[in-house]
Amino acid sequence: MSFEDPVIIVALDFADAKGALALARRLDPARCRVKVGLELFCAEGPAVVRDLRGLGLDVFLDLKFHDIPNTVARACARAADLGVWMVNVHALGGPRMLEAARRAIPAEGPRLVGVTILTSHSPEEVAALGLGASGARVRSLARACREAGLDGVVCSAHEASDLRDLRGRGFVLVTPGIRPQGSAPDDQRRTQTISEALASGADYLVVGRPVTQAPDPAAALAACLDEARAARAHGALKNLEQS
Ligand code: C5P
Repeated sequence: MSFEDPVIIVALDFADAKGALALARRLDPARCRVKVGLELFCAEGPAVVRDLRGLGLDVFLDLKFHDIPNTVARACARAADLGVWMVNVHALGGPRMLEAARRAIPAEGPRLVGVTILTSHSPEEVAALGLGASGARVRSLARACREAGLDGVVCSAHEASDLRDLRGRGFVLVTPGIRPQGSAPDDQRRTQTISEALASGADYLVVGRPVTQAPDPAAALAACLDEARAARAHGALKNLEQS
């Protein structure tokens, strides 16, 4: 596995910059990326993103924009100004919103990915929202993201295998709910291991508490990378055997 494109994104779910930066200083920017979500951004704003950039870390700004096209486009442009590596919007904002977001981000700017259906929704909730069958809706939203020129989607690792044919030409699958082998699920209901997620076709894996709450976060990240490397080697071997 190349260290030039680290597959693990560490979710910095902290209440303040002090905690987030203390953890971030223990991470090697050549080996992982970090994710800033709503809690940390509401607490600290753009300053924490700049500080993380200052440590050499690529930042995924996970604010899941969903508003009228003009507002989302302008927010995406400001995210691009911050120098983040990745930013996301809700695919349910519709094609015009997705296209406006795409146009607002310069070619050399952050990768733009769409959130399909939140994995916290049960299939019953998805149906009650009038969105039909959850699997089919995830797929149609992922296709809409690709048609609008987005760079990928955020989806459950359990959905990744159904979307893997949409991958390619820069279209990536980002999957949260990932647990290294043998670690606790915490409050996640449907986790996958690093090996399972990579085998399903995930390109980037979001891992939070197994790294951030570990007694030695750098060692926990190293264990994640070992598992990813072994999974990649196993996959390559299988491909060779099948060819
Ligand atoms: O600590 P843990 O690995 O469970 O953290 C997962 C991260 O991914 C959190 O920041 C969570 O908000 C985010 N996420 C998720 N499921 C989604 C979308 C985002 O767990 N469907």
